[in-house]
Amino acid sequence: MKRSKTQVGIVGAGPAGLLLAHLLHLHGIESVQVENRSRNYCERRIRAGVLEHGTAELLAETGVGERMKREGLIHHGIYLRFRRKSHHINFPELTGGKSITVYGQHEVVKDLIAARLAAGGRILFGVEDVTVEGMKGKAPSLRFRHAGEEQVISCDFIAGCDGFHGVCRPSIPANELRVYEEVYPFGWLGILARVAPSSDELIYSRHERGFALLSMRSPQVSRLYLQCSPEEDLARWPDGRIWQELQERFATEEKWKLKEGPITQKGVTAMRGFVVEPMQYGRLFLLGDAAHIVPPTGAKGLNLAVADVRVFARALDAFYTHGKTELLERYSEICLRRVWKAERFSNWMTRTLHLGGGDEYAERIHEAELDYVTGSRAAMAALAENYVGLPFEEV
Ligand code: FAD
Ligand code: PHB
Repeated sequence: MKRSKTQVGIVGAGPAGLLLAHLLHLHGIESVQVENRSRNYCERRIRAGVLEHGTAELLAETGVGERMKREGLIHHGIYLRFRRKSHHINFPELTGGKSITVYGQHEVVKDLIAARLAAGGRILFGVEDVTVEGMKGKAPSLRFRHAGEEQVISCDFIAGCDGFHGVCRPSIPANELRVYEEVYPFGWLGILARVAPSSDELIYSRHERGFALLSMRSPQVSRLYLQCSPEEDLARWPDGRIWQELQERFATEEKWKLKEGPITQKGVTAMRGFVVEPMQYGRLFLLGDAAHIVPPTGAKGLNLAVADVRVFARALDAFYTHGKTELLERYSEICLRRVWKAERFSNWMTRTLHLGGGDEYAERIHEAELDYVTGSRAAMAALAENYVGLPFEEV
């Protein structure tokens, strides 16, 4: 058995874990990161695509935004489409100059892995059977197997950045956590297609056949989603049917046509809102999807993970530089304020844009929401400031 020590043990090499390791390195704090998948798998996992204003700024300010600045697409708004008409929401005009950057999560992951390895950072990919122990004491530890060898790393702190299905949250006694959850009765069928995006900015479309979203990854690659059942069987969706359904859900009075091309990836994602409180237990801290998830309609998942990391890195800096524990103690309270506002916004976007199960009164309310939000500057500004990202809390 191999034994070693570090300051912060990080479980998971998704955006949360990788950005945390990077920020800690900038503060001169040492970490070791353990990930159960391969590097290749992490770099190819297609997920979110929208970076809030503050997320893009943070990546740029901390030296990992070079490629994002070159290849990311700056968008100054989104379109809301309903009753076959498109309505533009102009972000800079409504938020005092803010915008979003469309840049795939896997590209952020690639950039962060490259930066960590270039700085001599330790990321152990392909580890097995990770467990966390001794969280209530002063030296919690990570135990796992790597390349056939059993290892124990003794840490000052453990960061649970291992996503919704990870091991960190379940290792906290259930009676110490309160779980809040909403499971939505629909999912998204998402595709990547090798075809130029049919719009300069994202289109969120509410249609009587169900919601559809047009997004993109580059000037040559479109990312599109269709509302479906959470248990949708992909075998029932040959490419032709997907394009036909997308054409119908995006149709406008002006006979707008969606450009079609070869589909290179398909997947179904179920939707839920989920939060645990508190996000910490002794010296184990939960960050990102390990602590909370949102339905993707508000494009908030990745951005919330980044906001948690920012708070936790500052709290650890205050601890190691000045011996202060106050921010660490308030970590959960600080993060949860933003988390719940993102849950609220994502819930609102999801309910308003999806078609849900035959409640005609609710359907009329959702249409009225869209009428209101596209007709009132105040309502439009509320949507815009949430979409580009609420300001980070002062910590
Ligand atoms: P993750 O990205 O999940 O990273 C966790 C890491 O921990 C992973 O690398 C995982 O392999 C690793 N891990 C897990 N268990 C262990 C273990 N036991 N030991 C070691 N390592 C472990 N958001 C959007 O805004 N738009 C989208 O379109 C969108 N699509 C999504 C599709 C899917 C299928 C999922 C699951 C999420 C999606 N999200 C989307 C949400 C967004 O991708 C997440 O909010 C974001 O990935 C959170 O980052 P994270 O680092 O907290 O977690
Ligand atoms: C994406 O590009 O994958 C994407 C964009 C906006 C969302 C969700 C996903 O709300």
